[in-house]
Amino acid sequence: MQEIKFYSGENIPLELHKVRVVQKLHLVPIERRLEALQEGGFNTFRLNTKDVFLDMLTDSGTNAMSDNQMAAMLQADDAYAGSQSFYRLEQAVQEVLGKKYYLPVHQGRAAENIISNAYVRKGSVVPMNYHFTTAMAHITQYGGKIVELLYDEAYVINSSHPFKGNMNLEKLEEVIKVHGAKNIPFIRMEASTNLIGGQPFSVQNLRDVRAIASKYNIRLVLDASLIGENAFLVKQREDEFKEASLGDILKEMTGLADLVYFSARKLSSSRGGGMCTDSLEIYRELEALVPLFEGFLTYGGMSVREMEAMTVGLYETLDESIICQSPGYIKYLVEALDAKGVPVIKPAGVLGVHLNAMEICEHIPQKEYPAGALAAALFLISGIRGMERGSVSNQRDEYGNETYADMELLRLAVPRRVFTLSQIKYVEDRVTWLYENRKLIGGLRFFYEPPVLRFFMGGLEPVNDWPQKLIEKFKEDFGESL
Ligand SMILES: Cc1ncc(COP(=O)(O)O)c(C=O)c1O
Repeated sequence: MQEIKFYSGENIPLELHKVRVVQKLHLVPIERRLEALQEGGFNTFRLNTKDVFLDMLTDSGTNAMSDNQMAAMLQADDAYAGSQSFYRLEQAVQEVLGKKYYLPVHQGRAAENIISNAYVRKGSVVPMNYHFTTAMAHITQYGGKIVELLYDEAYVINSSHPFKGNMNLEKLEEVIKVHGAKNIPFIRMEASTNLIGGQPFSVQNLRDVRAIASKYNIRLVLDASLIGENAFLVKQREDEFKEASLGDILKEMTGLADLVYFSARKLSSSRGGGMCTDSLEIYRELEALVPLFEGFLTYGGMSVREMEAMTVGLYETLDESIICQSPGYIKYLVEALDAKGVPVIKPAGVLGVHLNAMEICEHIPQKEYPAGALAAALFLISGIRGMERGSVSNQRDEYGNETYADMELLRLAVPRRVFTLSQIKYVEDRVTWLYENRKLIGGLRFFYEPPVLRFFMGGLEPVNDWPQKLIEKFKEDFGESL
């Protein structure tokens, strides 16, 4: 893609699309935002969007669709079995992801459930670059354990390492030797590793992981939910691929895995998901579980309209001018916040901007959930809804003990083609204000803690009256401004 320079010398992520459908937003007063937090147990998952101004909770199922995706939805072929919509989608999977057999599922975690059901047993160990919440929950539900094998550099917040999502190869071999290949049903590699700040792996690293998987005859499973952006960053950061097309990079990556699965809520800016493979044996092992958990093999729990949007969205993943939009905004915001001294994960990754709550809220002990507190505080002072990615998102160990996250992050997702640059500037402004007033933020404690994936529906409360103090300071500085 050709660079577009500004005469002013500024680095502006110029949008290569125009907005043709809009949705009105509401910025409610700070008093209402406090009530909303109280009603939602200081958990941003439980907020109602009528109280939310900028929804940066996730990029999952919240992306703007293209005109071509919307148009395709109208030609959907409603049929329980043998729908033309499915065959068009199957062809897109074959052409874009380069795999012969496709099994549809209603979203990414459904694939994780099926893969875990098929391969994970009590005593299984699944090595991975890093866990994703739902992947880990399914593996542990079926009696397995996960082992995370990133290089130390991945945990360095202020870093310039281009591929923090790389798997530590020495540790991988060590884990295989310690646990034995027969107890390792698969190795899982996650593209643009979500929970460490949307950080990519290099193609070379994936090749090396493939070589180890082949040496020990272990399946390699690729979570491709964020593979479009991983390919985009490979093109920018890995010399060998400077001149390659996104399509070639994608196929190079998927070609190295035995089994690829994805959430289409991210990849393809639609809904749904899937698993694909070139192995008839793997296809057969998973096939029967799709009708059991999801729906018939030609819809897998998706509506035909979603499948049509996904088909077009998959082809659009090959277009750099489409893929670059969200990483471009993220880079802009990361650089702007960094220039103001706000601790953010670097280098800029994909999916969103990740604030380092461990440092911003260093006065809050981990047992009082600094990232959860920062998420609540930011919503209170701005109406911006982010997602806690720290210890609240961790699960307790098998004995019921609290486990603390390696990183306490507040993720501000930048869904694809949804926001404008002035909205991103508003985020920069309010985050900077909050950073300057960070000592006013206090901790949280659970009053309701569900046993599985507690971060979704858990209820928390502030440990003291810090929200009121934050409101007072906000009023002092912003007066009657929303
Ligand atoms: C890397 C990764 N894998 C899997 C999933 C699960 O996908 P879904 O939300 O569609 O169930 C997600 C969702 O955010 C993800 O980011």
